Amino acid sequence: MQHSKILILDFGSQVTQLIARRVREAHVFCEVHPCDVSDDWVRAYAQDGTLKGVILSGSHASVYEETTDRAPQAVFELGVPVLGICYGMQTMAQQLGGKVEGGHTREFGYAEVRAHGHTALLKDIADFTTPEGHGMLKVWMSHGDKVTELPPGFKLMASTPSCPIAGMADEARHYYAVQFHPEVTHTVQGQALLNRFVLDICQARPDWIMGDYIAEAVAKIREQVGDEEVILGLSGGVDSSVAAALIHRAIGDQLTCVFVDHGLLRLNEGDMVMEMFAGKLHAKVIRVDASDLFLGKLAGVSEPEAKRKIIGGLFVDVFKAEAAKLKAGGAGHKGATFLAQGTIYPDVIESGGAKSKKAVTIKSHHNVGGLPEQLGLKLLEPLRELFKDEVRELGVALGLPHAMVYRHPFPGPGLGVRILGEVKKEYADLLRRADAIFIEELHNFTDAATGKTWYDLTSQAFTVFLPVKSVGVMGDGRTYDYVVALRAVQTSDFMTADWAELPYALLKKVSGRIINEVRGINRVTYDVSSKPPATIEWE
Ligand code: XMP
Repeated sequence: MQHSKILILDFGSQVTQLIARRVREAHVFCEVHPCDVSDDWVRAYAQDGTLKGVILSGSHASVYEETTDRAPQAVFELGVPVLGICYGMQTMAQQLGGKVEGGHTREFGYAEVRAHGHTALLKDIADFTTPEGHGMLKVWMSHGDKVTELPPGFKLMASTPSCPIAGMADEARHYYAVQFHPEVTHTVQGQALLNRFVLDICQARPDWIMGDYIAEAVAKIREQVGDEEVILGLSGGVDSSVAAALIHRAIGDQLTCVFVDHGLLRLNEGDMVMEMFAGKLHAKVIRVDASDLFLGKLAGVSEPEAKRKIIGGLFVDVFKAEAAKLKAGGAGHKGATFLAQGTIYPDVIESGGAKSKKAVTIKSHHNVGGLPEQLGLKLLEPLRELFKDEVRELGVALGLPHAMVYRHPFPGPGLGVRILGEVKKEYADLLRRADAIFIEELHNFTDAATGKTWYDLTSQAFTVFLPVKSVGVMGDGRTYDYVVALRAVQTSDFMTADWAELPYALLKKVSGRIINEVRGINRVTYDVSSKPPATIEWE
């Protein structure tokens, strides 16, 4: 099936991915590519006629520093609509003959923008109307430079007192540009504006629907794999679970899942994964219980990065050993030739990002990059085109339980980074039980205002084990036991996060239950640090 598509050119803004997510929410397929692709690349990309429009993103540079990045000129020769956002507007203005100047006043944050000129993009889209009858939009701005002269053929589309040209349009060519950011939720009509652009102005078909995508993805997997065999590392996380369910739907017993239990999983997690995949889906799953191996190698190690390296390294070793056996075949098997991974689209964008992008590594994250080459296996990545929300929708459409698909993320090193300092089985057992109570109560408590459970209202919640003892009293006796900290955060991107204002009644219930039910823990604290300067995990 040929989907309509929108091309998003990334000039390095922190929020470019949000543009893509909003377009996908309109059920239109889109892709993000770096702004420095060549004119030939752009022409080739548009050649099959499925490209319906181009969006030029913002840039982090427009706020802090000079940049000379330009959109490939070919974008303006394709005959498809173009939308410029923030820096994307400035470069559009410059490239088409207008003028951009360094701003004397920086605008950052909330702004009210007046719509002008009854353009197709903003027609009937407004948050309120002034007494004089002007349509007004509540938006989020973040820029220093601004357009000071319209390019030939353009008319004014939006303004603020400090940014007289906050939007411009050339309706004959279907070029539109806004200085504010429609992709962020602070811009109230942002989704309406992007829907208007992709659906009405670009006339892209809203045919990117996960329920329908299954058939397409299944056909693609069958074509790629043929009658060969596939290995997949199942972690219990959303991405590998959905990848497994999808590939199993496509090729059944040609797939073997390997589930490495490192002994640092959540309570009953291993059994639940087995029950779902081996039990309900009848997939072939090999469960490797490697907890003794992991705990043995972790003994005496307390430095967080050292722990991460040990867990990551061992994980790869154990997985590789299993994969080598499966690759060798035997007992009616020809041997596997593919390794499947749950890579999702944000991973793909990050690794091919615009050259202007600067990433800082704060913690080394556990991943298995390079594994297919080491194993001499071909790579199968059926979720490469999907955002997390879409992976979840797909999981539900494939029949995976809601609780599995909407589970909070869990780090690869598992409880290994939630036990401060040295990891011991005793600590892991206490932590697992305390954490299960916290999670259970987050599901039990509902917020009256939204009708949602506190589990759904938080992005990630867990318990941290502190290997220190404090004094308590229980019944007639004195106790001298361990401390745990509860952590619950709200975030949209995990780059920044606020601690969740959980109701006192919930905290009280959790604390009471942990102290009464988990012998060995006599004190529960709540972490009230935001990220930054704290991180979400404690290690
Ligand atoms: P931090 O602690 O860096 O966490 O604020 C941000 C997100 O990343 C997860 N995280 C990890 N995930 N391996 C992973 O797979 C790791 O080593 C790791 N460390 C942190 C964390 O759970 C949160 O969602």
